[in-house]
Amino acid sequence: MTDLKGRSLLTLLDFTAEEISYLIDYAIELKERKRSGRKGDLLEGKNIVLLFDKASTRTRCAFEVAAFDEGARVTYLSNSQMGKKESMEDTARVLGRFYDGIEFRGYKQETVEALARWSGVPVWNGLTDTYHPTQVLADFMTAKEHLGKPFHEMKLVFVGDGRNNVATSLMIGAAKLGMDFTAACPEELHPDESMLNAMQVLGKETGAEIGWSSDLHEAVKGADVIYTDVWVSMGEDDKFAERIGLLKPYQVSMDVIRASGNPNVIFEHCLPAFHDLETEIGRDVAQKYGLEEMEVTDEVFRSSHSVVFDEAENRMHTIKAVMAATCCS
Ligand code: CP
Ligand code: NVA
Repeated sequence: MTDLKGRSLLTLLDFTAEEISYLIDYAIELKERKRSGRKGDLLEGKNIVLLFDKASTRTRCAFEVAAFDEGARVTYLSNSQMGKKESMEDTARVLGRFYDGIEFRGYKQETVEALARWSGVPVWNGLTDTYHPTQVLADFMTAKEHLGKPFHEMKLVFVGDGRNNVATSLMIGAAKLGMDFTAACPEELHPDESMLNAMQVLGKETGAEIGWSSDLHEAVKGADVIYTDVWVSMGEDDKFAERIGLLKPYQVSMDVIRASGNPNVIFEHCLPAFHDLETEIGRDVAQKYGLEEMEVTDEVFRSSHSVVFDEAENRMHTIKAVMAATCCS
């Protein structure tokens, strides 16, 4: 029996393969339960606070809907005293007196760690500059639903900024579960050396081959999942020119999908994605750099390979599983 009561989810590094698999299977069960119309009460009487220092659509809505579905009440806080007029310790101690669980999205990993250290309640990382662990639970759940084979038989290729929060978290999750992982990226954006080494060592135990390659077509050969993310993460907004220069050859097009050699390969993206000119930033980039699609072409995004909206839905089921498992009575 996996007991996660009282635990925080700050990074997947803190969780075993069994615990990660348990959360994914629990999310699949909760998804079925919701589909069948059964009402939940797993978080009845709980109060949850959502702290957002960065923008969000999916993560905020996933936490709110998951909480409402299971009977919890939610406070959304985006302009608190935290860190400005009040220390992390004092803020965390106050929030811990009011709430049964705390979600945090922001910049530094140290902030979410401080909240966990001082609040005395479970804290869930809704994305920092370093990690995005709840995202990976949804990504792996979606892969499991679509591929119908065990994680240790899958190969996931992340294409893009190999050092970002999503790429790093995918690499950790893959190493834990025995899934092969390659970051296809230019030399300048390869995964952090020490994290890569640690995950390669772990991969030797779990059977995961972990690495990176600047040769995109070689990297995606035999992939079950081709994954990409935005080239410029939140908080790096002055980096568009540099990243476009580095990552233009790494755009996920139908050629890249075909280079996998796998007709059943799925395409994943954490979203939001720049695949057309329907966004302000997308139009601005098109005007300045003449690029109408960035990390993924509209053709791939809308293709039968793409499972991005299942992935988005699964954010809610996996976050519900995390809250229910860690914050239950
Ligand atoms: N994938 C993800 O975290 O989306 P949001 O930024 O909309 O929360
Ligand atoms: N790497 C992206 C992920 C967004 C969900 C960012 O941090 O902006």
